[in-house]
Amino acid sequence: METLPLKGREIVVGVTGGIAAYKAVEVVRRLKKLGAGVHVVMTREATEFVTELTFREISGQQVAQDMWEKAPQYHVEHIALARLAELVLVVPATANILAKAAAGLADDLLSTTLLATKAQVYYAPAMNTGMWENPATQANLAVLRQRGARIIEPASGALACDATGKGRLPEPVAIAEEILSYFQKGQRLRGRKVLVTAGGTEEPLDPVRFLGNRSTGRMGYALAEAAARAGAEAVLVSGPTALADPVNVRVIRVRTALEMQRAVQAEADADAVIGAAAVADYRPAEVAEQKIKKNDGELTLRLVRNPDILAGLGAEKRRGQVLVGFAAETESIAEYARRKLEKKNLDFIVANDVSQADAGFGVPTNRVQIFYRDGRREQQPLMEKQALAGLILERVADCLADK
Ligand code: PMT
Repeated sequence: METLPLKGREIVVGVTGGIAAYKAVEVVRRLKKLGAGVHVVMTREATEFVTELTFREISGQQVAQDMWEKAPQYHVEHIALARLAELVLVVPATANILAKAAAGLADDLLSTTLLATKAQVYYAPAMNTGMWENPATQANLAVLRQRGARIIEPASGALACDATGKGRLPEPVAIAEEILSYFQKGQRLRGRKVLVTAGGTEEPLDPVRFLGNRSTGRMGYALAEAAARAGAEAVLVSGPTALADPVNVRVIRVRTALEMQRAVQAEADADAVIGAAAVADYRPAEVAEQKIKKNDGELTLRLVRNPDILAGLGAEKRRGQVLVGFAAETESIAEYARRKLEKKNLDFIVANDVSQADAGFGVPTNRVQIFYRDGRREQQPLMEKQALAGLILERVADCLADK
């Protein structure tokens, strides 16, 4: 599977009215090629330099321009764009937009989006040297930097106004690289392979019935997604779920515990394996070929043990490999979790009390304790499964770094 480094990222590109606006077309093209979803906002002045049609064709998205559009692309467009953006890049950024952003003015779609967004903002200024060096511009830049914005410094060279000096927009390739490196920083699992299991298994009784459990796959899918975000080659072995494949994750769908074991073993060269699946410990000894008919008496099912997938990996643990398990418990949590940690030869185990309404199966949140080999115990507060997944992947990266 080809993994595009910015796949799943949403970037808003603000284009303002400077001669370098034509270079923004190439920036948008490159970000798109890296896999990002690119949403262009143009100021009225920008449209004097490049047409909206050009950006629409290159980005593959409607271009936003007007606060008062009759049929806007989004409901309350500036807020929608501000929320959607993981990063806002203003390219080229004129002295005027820098001044407006520093002052907190919001008199068009781009300045309003800049005021409303909580995303990281990058400005790529381009202007005449005199405007760049003007203390007003430098003071505005200082204010924006102090508030967390990042400035892609202009280059020196020949300017459109026949002068030579600082103020040229850097080459589009350099701007796209800067944005790429922002997303890749902190990717502690770059070059690593992380295998995650998720969901419950289904153990068939006959062609229409199975033994299953209440796992929805949410926890495991969040883990696989977090692994991919941290730069890992992420592989997800998933039992049947209603969830869509996460972005940048290779998904292998299975049904039974035996199928899950086979898929996990085929991918076991991973640097880290996280077992979030609720694997059936038993399966029916026989699977009836035809639908089992009811009769007046009782029905007795004979169950046989399924293999313990994680314990199997633990028994043949690879050098430097990190193994992480989950423990779904309803009582004596610490005792049972520590027992599983030892028995399955894990590096740490994440224990959730599945008797609580806001933790464990099905719900979007979880509350866990993490038990480590050296006896440490970490109690985590209630949080979204996505946030917990990020935290667990940080712990995985710590363990890998220690080995
Ligand atoms: O999917 P969600 O609805 O989001 O719910 C999340 C969850 C509750 C399923 C998840 O947080 C969780 O606790 N997963 C593990 C559930 C479980 O089966 O726990 P266990 O205590 O029975 O198993 C311990 C560990 O061994 C687990 O990592 C499990 O994947 C693994 N195991 C268990 C049995 C088996 N035959 N093979 C295994 O590999």
